[in-house]
Order: sequence, then structure tokens, then C-alpha cells
Amino acid sequence: MSVGEPRLDRDHRVLIGLINRVESARDTTVAGGGTRHDVLADVLATLIAYTVFHFGREEQVMAACGYPDLDVHRDEHEALTAEVRALAERFAADPLAIPLDDVLAFLRDWLSHHILLQDMAYRDVVNRQPEAAAAAAAAYGDFDFAAAALAASEPELEDAS
Ligand SMILES: [Fe+2]
Repeated sequence: MSVGEPRLDRDHRVLIGLINRVESARDTTVAGGGTRHDVLADVLATLIAYTVFHFGREEQVMAACGYPDLDVHRDEHEALTAEVRALAERFAADPLAIPLDDVLAFLRDWLSHHILLQDMAYRDVVNRQPEAAAAAAAAYGDFDFAAAALAASEPELEDAS
């Protein structure tokens, strides 16, 4: 399932790992007065933040390789981001409104559609110029999980003060 650039492949594995965390959060009992819905909301927030980060990296790589359908792919990224944001907002408004199995099914479809269909379109262009792709992917930097976790828990910190 490689798209031809190791950092982009790694991003995809991180996204799959975050979706797996949503699944394992389902059965989590949270110490300290939280609920599993708090855990799920945090995981969803991190998933959205990482998705935005990854899409940005992918667009940099596509641009560096002169991918001709960059505008189309960017539009697809915007649509995918809007979908997962809408899901997270529905979940935040009423965690019981959507069965968790439906949330997981949505996320799995959403990600596999992105990787298996949309990303494969740029694979050949990236494979033809691996050095330009690797340089652009590396220049984009790394995701700051600590900052994302802090941002996700910020409302609770404000409530407590
Ligand atoms: Fe991707």
C-alpha cells in the first residue's frame, strides 16, 4: 500500500494507528473522573490535526514533483477534512447520537478511500523523482503530538481553573 514516499507512508500508518486508538478507546475505563467519550474526543481531535498536517505534507511533495492534478487532490483533501471535522462536531455535540461502530466504519472507509484510491494517483509521479519527493517531505517537518494533545485538552483545563 506504499505511495512511493517513506514519510507519506509513515503518515498513513500513524493515521491508521489513530483510528485503531478510537477502537481501543471504546472499551477504556478512564480513571480520574473522565469518560471514554473524553478520550474519544481527544483521539478525534488528534486525528483531525494529524490529517491536516499530513495533507499539507502531501501537497508539498506533489508540488515538488510537479504533479499535474495537484488542484484536484487539494480539493479532495479539503472535502475529506470537512467530513471528518463534521463527524467530530456531531460527536462532540452528542456522543451518543452516533453508534461508535458507525464512527469507526466511517473513519476506516474515509481513510482507505484516501490512501487506496486518491493517493495512488500521484504514486507514479513521485516514484519517478524520489529525491525531490523525499526532500519536500522532510522539509515539511514533524507533527508535534505534545502540542496537539495540549490543544485537545485545553477546554478542560479552562473549565478547571
Ligand atoms: Fe495521504
